[in-house]
Amino acid sequence: MEAVNNKYLKVLVTGASGFIGRKLCFTLAEMGYEVVALCRNVNHPFLIQHRNIQFVKGDVLQMESLSRAMKGCYQVYHTAALAKMWCKNEQDFYDVNVVGTRNVLECALKLNVEKVVHTSTCGVWGPTLNFPISENDPRAVGFPISYERTKYLAELEVKAFVEKGLEVVIVNPSRVYGDGPITDSNTVSKMVTGYINGTWYFIPGDGEAIANYAFVDDVVNGHISAMQNGRNGERYILGGEDVSFNGFFNVLKEITGKKRKLYKIPVSVIKAYSLLEFIKTKLFNLTPLFLPEFADRLKCNQQYCSNKAISELNYSITPFALGLNKTINHFKN
Ligand SMILES: NC(=O)c1ccc[n+]([C@@H]2O[C@H](COP(=O)([O-])OP(=O)(O)OC[C@H]3O[C@@H](n4cnc5c(N)ncnc54)[C@H](OP(=O)(O)O)[C@@H]3O)[C@@H](O)[C@H]2O)c1
Repeated sequence: MEAVNNKYLKVLVTGASGFIGRKLCFTLAEMGYEVVALCRNVNHPFLIQHRNIQFVKGDVLQMESLSRAMKGCYQVYHTAALAKMWCKNEQDFYDVNVVGTRNVLECALKLNVEKVVHTSTCGVWGPTLNFPISENDPRAVGFPISYERTKYLAELEVKAFVEKGLEVVIVNPSRVYGDGPITDSNTVSKMVTGYINGTWYFIPGDGEAIANYAFVDDVVNGHISAMQNGRNGERYILGGEDVSFNGFFNVLKEITGKKRKLYKIPVSVIKAYSLLEFIKTKLFNLTPLFLPEFADRLKCNQQYCSNKAISELNYSITPFALGLNKTINHFKN
């Protein structure tokens, strides 16, 4: 991304310790923005230090901390979310993803913020049928996954605030991968490091289910372009290439030169196992390794089309093999 002329442009980023947020803070700082990085722990190990980044303690559920951090900022990137499969208190998904988004938008409206970019997800569409989904397509199934449901509800909050006069653009990344910490939301890196270390043993089903993989640098640049060029109230899919599980592991094999024995596990077996995990979780409130609603998803394709972002935001897609190579080099180092 090009450097900005006025280096005193102050922007707020929520979720600064996250897989995407930390890189977004760094890229903006490198461009010359003065970044206010909202985080719950200012000593978080994932934060990237930079002279243009000021870490401010705050929580999207605490209005006062939000107002304090946002004061004087002319733009806001809202990436913070509960982006995981499960949490002990189910209500947290609604609180962080819906109420937290409402708080950020309310604060931005009150403080006359010029524009907000809200990070949503392609999960608001969920599984796809035989063709890649684009922005105006409806969701084909219900919402069994709390994360997806609450991210969808957060988009409705955005719509309500756009009607109130706040300028907001929504970006919808697909499955994001790349260099960075292995957080709950960074599932691709778990597969990559597992494969490299020889601790990943299986391919779900026949391996033909397709997902869309977006390189983290593209997603970060897409956020900044959305702030610069995105149209008010619009959604933009920030995706990458559609790749099957078989394709994914073939590329990994080629790049790493490591041939691992991977077992194709029928989805019915994964589902049975996930039901046991579900019971364990219900009885003992222990973190599950996998849940039935995610097992069901393994049978589905998740293909998304980024053409709108490509034409309106000049979004560019790093070829999957190149992005994965960079990711592998990061983990090797
Ligand atoms: N990664 C993906 O594949 C992917 C794909 C599509 C969309 N997205 C979206 O992209 C955004 C960023 O995802 P990510 O992968 O960077 O997730 P992540 O690594 O899990 O980061 C989430 C961030 O949100 C912060 N957060 C959570 N609750 C908060 C609260 N109450 N107040 C303030 N901050 C809070 C976390 O802070 P702590 O460190 O304090 O917990 C963390 O910085 C999310 O909106 C997610 O839905 C991600």
